[in-house]
Formats: sequence, C-alpha cells, structure tokens
Amino acid sequence: MDILTNSIAKFCSLPPSCIIGVTAAVGFINYYFMFAVKAPRIHCKEGEFKNFIRQNVPIINEKYWPTMWCFEARFQSVLASLIRSFVVPPAPYTREIFKLKDGGEVALDWLEPMKRPNDMYDATILFLPGLTGDSKCEYVRATSLAVQKSGFRIVVFNYRGIGGIELKTPRTYSANNIDDLTEVVCHIKSKYPNTILGGIGVSMGGLLLGSFLSSNEQHVHKYFSAAMLISVPWNLIATTQNIEKPYLNRFLCTYLAKCLCNLVENSSNMLSSSSHKWDYNQVIKSKTIREFDSNYTIKLFEHESVDDYYKKASLHDKVDRIRVPCLCLNAADDPFCLESDLPLESADRIENLAILVTVKGGHIGFLEGIWPFTNSNEFMFRIIDQYFSSIFKNNNYKRYDG
Ligand SMILES: *[C@@H]1O[C@H](CO)[C@@H](O)[C@H](O)[C@H]1NC(C)=O
Ligand SMILES: *[C@@H]1O[C@H](CO)[C@@H](O)[C@H](O)[C@H]1NC(C)=O
Repeated sequence: MDILTNSIAKFCSLPPSCIIGVTAAVGFINYYFMFAVKAPRIHCKEGEFKNFIRQNVPIINEKYWPTMWCFEARFQSVLASLIRSFVVPPAPYTREIFKLKDGGEVALDWLEPMKRPNDMYDATILFLPGLTGDSKCEYVRATSLAVQKSGFRIVVFNYRGIGGIELKTPRTYSANNIDDLTEVVCHIKSKYPNTILGGIGVSMGGLLLGSFLSSNEQHVHKYFSAAMLISVPWNLIATTQNIEKPYLNRFLCTYLAKCLCNLVENSSNMLSSSSHKWDYNQVIKSKTIREFDSNYTIKLFEHESVDDYYKKASLHDKVDRIRVPCLCLNAADDPFCLESDLPLESADRIENLAILVTVKGGHIGFLEGIWPFTNSNEFMFRIIDQYFSSIFKNNNYKRYDG
C-alpha cells in the first residue's frame, strides 16, 4: 500500500500539464484495451459452416490488436495504403491480355503458387480489386504475394481501362455488370479445367463478385467453390450518402471521383465522342462518386436512375442468394460502410455465409501490432490463408454449397 500512496503523492506533485498528459495517456490506453482490442464477432446461423469457421479459421478466436498509433478509421485506411505502397515489393505477375467478345480487352495478371498444398489439389484464386484499383495497387499486390505464399495460383482481373490497358471499345465497368467477369471465369476454367476456383472481392470488387455469386451463372455452373468478400460496401445508397459527409469522408469521396474522372479522361479517344449517351465534358467535372455515376455509369449501362443502379448493385438485401461458402470481413468503423449498414441479421439466418466484424480496421486497413508491415503476415492475409486452405482441403467446400 505504501508504494501506492507514495506514487499517488508523487503523481500529485507533478506539474498540471504533466498530470493531464499522463491521465490522457492512461485514458487512451484504457480505451484501447477495453474497446479496441477484441476478437472479431462472427455473424452466421449456428450450423456446420459456422462450426467449420470456428475450428479452421483460428484467428477469429484471437483478439485483433489494431495498430495503436493509427486506429482511427480514416487515418488507418489512408495510412495502410500509403505505407503498404512503400514496403510491399512488386509482384512478378505474368500478364495475359484477354480479348472479350465485343472486342474489348482486359489484362489478367497471374502468379503461380510457390508451393503446392500437401494434399496436392490445384487451386486458383481470382482477385477483384476495388474501384479504380489494379494489380499494382498496394493491397492487391500484398494480397497476391500472400496468396502465392499460401500455395494458390492467383489471377488479378484488371477491369476495362485499368492496369495500363487502353480501351478498345467505348465501355468501362460497373459494380454489378457481370458480363466481363463471366467471360474471365470461363476462360480460367478452360485454361485450368481441374482447378478449384476461389474468389476474393475487395470493396467494389466484392460487390461485383457478390453479384456473380448470386447469379444464375454461378448457381447453374458452380464456377466458384468458395469466396471471400472484404470491406464490401453492402448498401451502396447508404455508402454514397456516408461518403459525402464533411469533411474527411468528403475528401476521400472527392479523391475517388477524381480517380474515376482521370480514367475517363485517359480514354478520351474512346469516350469523348458527342455521339455517346453521356456528356463527356460534364462527366470529367464530376465532384462526387454519385455525380460521376449519374453523369456516366448509369447512361453507359442503361439504368433508370443512380438510385436504381445503386439498388441493383447493393448486396445487403441479396445475401440469401449467395449459396457458395462465403466468408466476409468488415470493420465496424469502416467509413464507407457503417456498422448499421452491414446485413448482420440476414447473416445470422444464413448457414453458408459468415460476416466477421472487427471493432477497428477501417476500409481495407486491418493493420495490426506496433509496426504492421514487417512481414506478409497481416491480419487480412492470415484469414485468407486459413480460410481457403481449409475450405479447399478434402473437398470441404462441397459440404457447404447450399
Ligand atoms: C493515364 O495515362 C497516363 C499516361 O498514359 C498514366 O501514367 C496514368 O497512370 C493513367 N491514369 C489512369 C488513372 O489510368
Ligand atoms: C453531372 O456533373 C456535373 C458536374 O460536371 C454536376 O454539376 C451535375 O450535377 C451532374 N449531374 C447529375 C445528374 O448528377
């Protein structure tokens, strides 16, 4: 007790600024341990798939330690991207130019696995990046290298106009049109007829993958055997509203709108003709994603309105149409997808789809530990490795395809 009273006496004799500093630090550390460090929550109907995840993805039973000095969601999202872009080495992809039926071209970037899994099955993972992302983007590169290390072949689908490939036709891509994806999936299956196909969709890529998984194309042919959706903005109407809120969100939104406009400007030879359904000069001045979509995307893909497009591209009300075993990862503090917009109640009623929710992590952040970039062992990659390694093994995925 003496030590305690002594320390309190000493503490009280410190200058006030010091006391405030120490109190703030203690408060911060308390907050961190009480509210930030938690095991992810799992939302899935009690049953075989949930048990399978509990047993085979052990990371979900561990606490997730968000990086203490940057766990504010937007800070973490931006910083994760910035730091990864410096520390993640280039991925030695082999590029294939794939010709689409309408004359369009896309780049598929392949990495062969470093080792085969012990069971000697052949697995390929198709990666769908987020809005304006390509295979060189830091989170795509980092995931590709990690997946390669796990023993899977990876192929990154760079959408039309992305990844340094010029448009050959006046058409780009959208969050829910699965025509190009269908051609790519069929191509992979004809190139590797015996491979087990997995899919990873990040952010908007997750919406696209989700659209495919809930389509007849998948239900009839069962192309994908398992999937992961990461940081998906499930409800696009809500997302586009959140992201226009001042100030930080709006800043991110303006930045993304700028990237979209750049994409269109880069393909001005294909997209600027006055015979198109959109007004090129209006499009490239769009200040928000919603403006861009209403000026361009909905005209290109012939949606009635931008809300109609967002409604069709949203997944929160379609989760029950996904039958393939699907593991999803979202952070409760993702500024693009608020916790209240996650379809957790639906997930609680469905057997083969599970949503993992971490308290912190931001949008495609999920940084962990004090210095999160010393190896390719990031939180996100450990989940990917544990999930696909176990679901592909011994044809486990066949037991859960509803
Ligand atoms: C636009 O084109 C330039 C030069 O061709 C290239 O450096 C840049 O990365 C392209 N931007 C986008 C968004 O594709
Ligand atoms: C199209 O973009 C312009 C900016 O160039 C914007 O003022 C306008 O509101 C947008 N149109 C729609 C329908 O959102």
